Amino acid sequence: MIPKNTVEKIIDAAHVEEVLGEFITLKKRGANLLGLCPFHGEKSPSFTVSPVKGIYKCFGCGKSGNSVNFIMEHLQLSYPDALRWLAKKYSIEIVEREITPEEREQQTERESMLIVMQYAQRYFTETMFDTDEGRSIGLSYFKERDLRDDIIAKFQLGYSLEERNAFTVTAVKNSYQPKYLAKTGMSIVSNRHVEGTEITQADLFDRYAGRVMFPIHDDGGRVVAFGGRTLSNDKKTAKYINSPETDIYNKSKILYGLWMGKKAIQNADKCFLVEGYMDVIAMHQAGIENVVASSGTSLTVEQIKSIHRFTKNIVVLYDGDEAGQKASNRAIPLLLEEGMNVKLLMFPDNDDPDSFSRKVTIQEFKDYLENNTEDFLKFKAKKLSEESKNDPIKRAGVIKDLVDSISIIPDNIIRSIYIKECANIMEIEESILQMEVNKIRRKTATKASNTTANETQQLTPENVEEELFLDTKPEKELFNFDAEEERLLVLMIKYGNLLITTQAEDEVNVEHELEITLGEFIIFELWRDEIAYENPLYKTVLDEYIEQLKDLRLPDVKHFLQSPDPLISSFAVNYVIDKHEVSPKWINFGVIVPKEIDLAKKDAEKTLFSFKSRKLNAYINSIRESLKTCSYDESIEILEEIKRLEILKIRINLLLGREVIK
Ligand code: UTP
Ligand code: MN
Repeated sequence: MIPKNTVEKIIDAAHVEEVLGEFITLKKRGANLLGLCPFHGEKSPSFTVSPVKGIYKCFGCGKSGNSVNFIMEHLQLSYPDALRWLAKKYSIEIVEREITPEEREQQTERESMLIVMQYAQRYFTETMFDTDEGRSIGLSYFKERDLRDDIIAKFQLGYSLEERNAFTVTAVKNSYQPKYLAKTGMSIVSNRHVEGTEITQADLFDRYAGRVMFPIHDDGGRVVAFGGRTLSNDKKTAKYINSPETDIYNKSKILYGLWMGKKAIQNADKCFLVEGYMDVIAMHQAGIENVVASSGTSLTVEQIKSIHRFTKNIVVLYDGDEAGQKASNRAIPLLLEEGMNVKLLMFPDNDDPDSFSRKVTIQEFKDYLENNTEDFLKFKAKKLSEESKNDPIKRAGVIKDLVDSISIIPDNIIRSIYIKECANIMEIEESILQMEVNKIRRKTATKASNTTANETQQLTPENVEEELFLDTKPEKELFNFDAEEERLLVLMIKYGNLLITTQAEDEVNVEHELEITLGEFIIFELWRDEIAYENPLYKTVLDEYIEQLKDLRLPDVKHFLQSPDPLISSFAVNYVIDKHEVSPKWINFGVIVPKEIDLAKKDAEKTLFSFKSRKLNAYINSIRESLKTCSYDESIEILEEIKRLEILKIRINLLLGREVIK
């Protein structure tokens, strides 16, 4: 458990622009910041952050919340874990009690797996430094590859002993459950294990025995996987063994180096893409930290999107060898399609960034990167142009190849710049190139629209539900008070602290003018007629409001925006920022224009009136229905009740200064 005052301290410290800025590049736009939404794929920014309000909202996908919500959503953490993550970031100490073995059992699967990974990382690092085998084999391997101590520490490198089950045995001894060692892929389940029975230590052996270990971190710096490199030159052993895909390791999403490099990527507004673990590490050692690798898979669209959150400028650094060429051929169209500016950098001979960096000084390495980066399309145009110089047939093929690449680029302006430049390089008419590009774009556009048409015809669980919902709508309408429940909450949260004057009766039925806040007025009106909220979300927010009043606090917008309950905070976010209200005119807290004050009170009265009379109508309707089936005695009672309710209806109308509208 995290003590309440620590929670407050964390929420206070976690400025939204700082926290989100770790994961997205945000640009100033008026009073707000704007960036690419990390929750849905987008190419132009609609993700808005308000430092003043401490919240974010995406106008593309609707996701919204405060710093804590963001961390929960983005790093897939529970509420307490999101707080712990933020506490670590802001060096806020959390004094928690130790968890008991029973509690450990109760932790969710994912958390248990993450704990195993954290343990494994420490274990492999300690093994490398504190055992003879670790030092003489693991550490000396990294030293031979010229890695400095600070770099070994930074990347949390380690060593796994040659003994077949050294890690598994030690982990179990330290009460990590065999089941999670298997689930994380750290241990392999042997065929000795009988299907259906509980996994025990005897069923397991180490996945990485005798390898040097590269932990792979997620966006939040948690170890979610490992790559283990063999030290033998035997061609039959796989050079690297990587963690399998697990609940915590989504291979297509994770990029090696992103956690360590994201600050540098933001600062440089540029990201180098390399092939291997060692390449990332070597570049850091040369002082270049804006670098990632796709680690063991070919680059995926999801990985590109997570780079795009920080920058749209990417420099692809693939080996000169055939595998490297192939990899870049696959990756580049995806990068162009995502709207990235793609540059290319080749190393001489068969060098990769790691081997090249060790042949030259740090300065020479940096200069090489600086001077040999070439725009991908121009590079391609040049190369193709040279290759097909004297061969008109080949030339036609080459132009088509280039046209294919250019037509992928989503941005019109950038596309036409490329058309111009490539036409120049290839020495052909710009208009011809333009025409060819248009042809391809038209073709793919019709293809795309055909597939979307097909997709919408398919029934999914969601749209079946939607149709069912439509069917039941007419009946729902009469008993649905969402609109009023929501409007009153909006008024309470936005203008609840306004002082208004109202008429109130004292114990001897004499009317007095009374000054109360608009929030109290609404709560009182609901309470007086025993009106309860039905929509569970709105009820949660209302209850929070009442709680605040009970504590004699004036609940303001900020309180709701920063609520630890994501339901409450996202409710607040959703109405506080309306789309048209977004940029530059955030209404400052507490500053309300006089006109709006008048309107707020009128609005509240109008909504309360509609709410109460519709509630009553619905109630009267429902008991009228029961007249059809009840006994004679019961019907007398029911008619009495209806009469009472009709009177109440009139009273409501009178009190709210209205005539009964039939
Ligand atoms: P490389 O073969 O280029 O290895 O594979 P490397 O990173 O340069 O390693 P060193 O310098 O020989 O030590 C590039 C990347 O491909 C993945 C790894 O992520 C590796 O870093 N890979 C390679 C595997 O996953 N498995 C393999 O068997 C080989
Ligand atoms: Mn290498």
